[in-house]
Amino acid sequence: MTVKLLAMAGSTRTGSLNQALLDLAVAEARARGAEVTAIRLKDFALPLYDGDLEANAFPPAARELKALFVAHHGFLMATPEHNGSTSAVMKNAIDWATRPTEPGEAGLVAFRGKVAGLMAASISPFGGLRGITHLRQILGTIQTVVATEQVLLPFAQNAFDEAGGLKEALPAQILGMTVARVIELAEKLQPPTA
Ligand SMILES: Cc1cc2nc3c(=O)[nH]c(=O)nc-3n(C[C@H](O)[C@H](O)[C@H](O)COP(=O)(O)O)c2cc1C
Repeated sequence: MTVKLLAMAGSTRTGSLNQALLDLAVAEARARGAEVTAIRLKDFALPLYDGDLEANAFPPAARELKALFVAHHGFLMATPEHNGSTSAVMKNAIDWATRPTEPGEAGLVAFRGKVAGLMAASISPFGGLRGITHLRQILGTIQTVVATEQVLLPFAQNAFDEAGGLKEALPAQILGMTVARVIELAEKLQPPTA
């Protein structure tokens, strides 16, 4: 089977270090045979989650985003650490994607039995450990299997070379291990896709 992965960063800013890290993971996954849909959350006009909007006018962008989650076996996610947690952008995207869009739909259809590989780039010495740990907990709560391998990139503002690669061998090696595990787990779990 061809593993289909959806890739996103939880930062929307130009020059995002997390987007740069995610780009490497996307290239790695493609090199390992996965089919990757790389999206930018900025391209989705997602309002902040609001139950009234959900009830009265489910935002088309949220519906579109959720359909993408549903249609993939797993996710590659790079999260900034914002005040010790994952970013509001990432959390908001996940919140919308957990909401039912069809009558009688099974709960958590976008996440249950799926696989996630996580990474974080931070300008701090801790590499975004607190933010990625929150993201891991959130995804576990919504029944996604999160690879134990994960990529932490401290001092990320100095971590990339001019070609966009990682200067140090170790994080590049861990990135390869993380992506390989996500593909392996996705092949084993084979959740139903839309
Ligand atoms: C609101 C805000 C809160 C932040 N909080 C943290 C933090 O708790 N820990 C940390 O390591 N970096 C923190 N940072 C710095 C980010 O690591 C840094 O901005 C990083 O470049 C964000 O990722 P990006 O380049 O992908 O946007 C914070 C930045 C912002 C804007």
